[in-house]
Amino acid sequence: MAPTTQKVLGVPASGAPWKIYDNWPVPKPGPNDVLLKVVAAGLNPADWKIQSGAPGPLVSQWPFIGGLEAAGIIEEVGAEVTNFAKGDKVFCPGGFDQVHAAYKQYTIAPALNVAKIPHNISFEQAASIPVCLGVVATGMWSKAPGADSVGFPAPWEEGGLSKFKGQAALVVGGSSSVGQYEPAAIQMAKLQGFSPIIATSSLKHADWLKSLGATHVLDRSMTSTAILAELPKLTGGKPIVFAYDAISEADTQNLAYDALAAGGSMVVTLPMSGYPRGEGTARWLTAHLVQPNRVEILPNGLAGIPEGLERSKNNKVSGVKLIARPQETV
Ligand SMILES: NC(=O)c1ccc[n+]([C@@H]2O[C@H](COP(=O)([O-])OP(=O)(O)OC[C@H]3O[C@@H](n4cnc5c(N)ncnc54)[C@H](OP(=O)(O)O)[C@@H]3O)[C@@H](O)[C@H]2O)c1
Repeated sequence: MAPTTQKVLGVPASGAPWKIYDNWPVPKPGPNDVLLKVVAAGLNPADWKIQSGAPGPLVSQWPFIGGLEAAGIIEEVGAEVTNFAKGDKVFCPGGFDQVHAAYKQYTIAPALNVAKIPHNISFEQAASIPVCLGVVATGMWSKAPGADSVGFPAPWEEGGLSKFKGQAALVVGGSSSVGQYEPAAIQMAKLQGFSPIIATSSLKHADWLKSLGATHVLDRSMTSTAILAELPKLTGGKPIVFAYDAISEADTQNLAYDALAAGGSMVVTLPMSGYPRGEGTARWLTAHLVQPNRVEILPNGLAGIPEGLERSKNNKVSGVKLIARPQETV
């Protein structure tokens, strides 16, 4: 049985340092929810951006409890949940609110957003998946009214694997968690048939990004002008009809836009978009259609997260997703 209290990591007020709360209540799941014992939680730039004082419309309650993705073991299911049971190993998106946030030892997720972890994926790998894959899937395939999406046919829809065959794509920031997944951005562009797929990144990641599907890797320290001059040489003159900007700072957005042919499609990762639903993701992972991010496990449970976020803020995270294990908090 779950305890009644737990440790969580939060920010008491905008701009304040992270703090561990020792006696935070363990919530009860609603009828369509599950209660998850969090084994692994993924770190994302959004956490430090909010902590640093840029909550925008995302945070409605202080303290802000961080954590946008989690993997763990189901502790309890709501009365109407039929597809999960206590003891299932699962992963899910977290949330910007105290109930669904993942920097906790126990969290709540709607069963609809939960997926079982395939046998070939660890808790830590699973916790690296929801945000990045979600952001790629939403930006590329969502057809929901008003969605910020280029509306491509999804791989399981008609034309999803053939429509873009042989057309050129650019992924700016190929080694970021979003970019790899973006291995989804790279992996999804490959899945949809794009070729060539040109990624920008530090060259130390070139072999790895090629193993995910990039056909060419350009050094991200080159000027945008130099990168733009290289592109036609690498595409053999083919227009770039799809550009994915996994970084979405002003300079990378300009680069992606300038690289794009007239009428082409471009996806950016900021402002926020959304998350995919669970079971389809698990099927792709089991079938090895996509790979999870490379992960680095942080020490000291929740207490190790602030230092990890500081590294992210100072551009000291390179080609890896940082993961914390909340149960290891002392
Ligand atoms: N909308 C959403 O829901 C959503 C979700 C996730 C992320 N995001 C946003 O997407 C961005 C990336 O997030 P993330 O989690 O993927 O970050 P991350 O993995 O922590 O980013 C670090 C990586 O970014 C690469 N990088 C940094 N600046 C670059 C540049 N100018 N050109 C090319 N590569 C660059 C670095 O490449 P090298 O190591 O190769 O140098 C490093 O591998 C952030 O702005 C984040 O807030 C949005």
